Amino acid sequence: MSDALASSFREHLGIRLEGIAQDLQKTGYSALVLVSGGQYFYFRDDQPAPYRANAHFLHFCPLEGPGHLLLLRPEKKPLLATFSPDDFWYEPQRIGDAFWTEGFKIVECSSRKRQISEIAKRLPKGRAAAIGESGAVAEALGLAQNPPALLTRLDWRRAIKTAYEVECISEANRLGAAGHIAAEGAFQDGGSELDIHRTFLAAVGGLEADLPYPTIVGLNEKGAVLHYEGKRADVRNGKSLLIDAGARVRGYASDITRTFAGGAADGRFCSLITAMEGAQQALCEGVTAGRPWAELHHEAHLSLSGVLKDENVINLSSEDAVASGLSRVFFPHGLGHFLGIQVHDVGGHLADPDGRRAPPPKAHPMLRSTRTLEPGHVLTVEPGSTSSRCSSPGGGTGRSRGATPSTGRQSTPLAPYGGVRIEDNVLVTDTGPRNLTREHLP
Ligand code: GLY
Ligand code: MN
Ligand code: MN
Repeated sequence: MSDALASSFREHLGIRLEGIAQDLQKTGYSALVLVSGGQYFYFRDDQPAPYRANAHFLHFCPLEGPGHLLLLRPEKKPLLATFSPDDFWYEPQRIGDAFWTEGFKIVECSSRKRQISEIAKRLPKGRAAAIGESGAVAEALGLAQNPPALLTRLDWRRAIKTAYEVECISEANRLGAAGHIAAEGAFQDGGSELDIHRTFLAAVGGLEADLPYPTIVGLNEKGAVLHYEGKRADVRNGKSLLIDAGARVRGYASDITRTFAGGAADGRFCSLITAMEGAQQALCEGVTAGRPWAELHHEAHLSLSGVLKDENVINLSSEDAVASGLSRVFFPHGLGHFLGIQVHDVGGHLADPDGRRAPPPKAHPMLRSTRTLEPGHVLTVEPGSTSSRCSSPGGGTGRSRGATPSTGRQSTPLAPYGGVRIEDNVLVTDTGPRNLTREHLP
């Protein structure tokens, strides 16, 4: 066990406990029970889907597994009532001396009944709440279930990462970078999407279920599908690869995208990747405190349009491409999103901790954050250009005012390559942006 990790987690937990004490007081609750989550079983089957912890639970306690309960009360050590049933089918989960355990009073329980009674005898007076898939637990303990006022406060706080969380995301970037380097090698060796995916997974060193999201590995035209999940084994020696894949460390995600040209790619595509990379890096430099995210998103549309104009993909000025909606044909998604335990982390559309909403503008419904950047925010910066919406003329391209560039699938120079997207994970600090991805990956 690393002392540095234990001490950094101690500081994280202290900050989070102080926050929850304030939030409980503000919302009129005396205590909070976090439920780690249940398992989802397929219909009429005894086989479960891969388990994923309730992120609010994981945020306080990095113990992954179903059925655990965590009781948080102001000024008291958190009580962790683990769930480890006596069961001859499975290996019981034992905690041992993990780096985080000193922060908790831990009671290992072999039944739900025991867990409930351990929590019940420590519940303070007043109304308490439960967060998570808490139905039976909330009912047994008489708790308010997922009260929105408390949930939005937790979401709001999660957007500001502690030093411990930044370390986790940075390590997830280190691991993800190792996967990307290996995956690029497999691509340049002529590998299929399946080969590249397996190479990424082997380099990251885990199971598929450990990844923060399914890998996106698109050769050639499949690079156009933003969330392409196919894994073709029969297409090799790609002209291009778009790979969007990340890793998880102690529950925290990285979310990284790179686009590569293969040996058979033409010079135009290589030049487009280089230009897009320059624009993406300039946008990363703009991830500074006080900046409204929507403003940076607008800047991304302008700079991406400039790239497409310079590369002769479109022939409108940046301003006209944005005003006419043409830039949205190529760049339909948002510039990026909060990143944390969830790959699309929570709180992006909150206007304040009380839960008022700040929805995305009508023209940019996919913008996942409308917040103004603050130190501690971690966001992805992922401008891209896809050919997926460049269908036949008039086919929903959003073009207007007689935009002249041909975006027909046949004539768009991007089409055989799918598209270009480059994605880094950037931390806002008091002294400027810190690119957590580029510390590990060119
Ligand atoms: N990997 C999904 C995304 O970039 O949002
Ligand atoms: Mn991604
Ligand atoms: Mn992303």
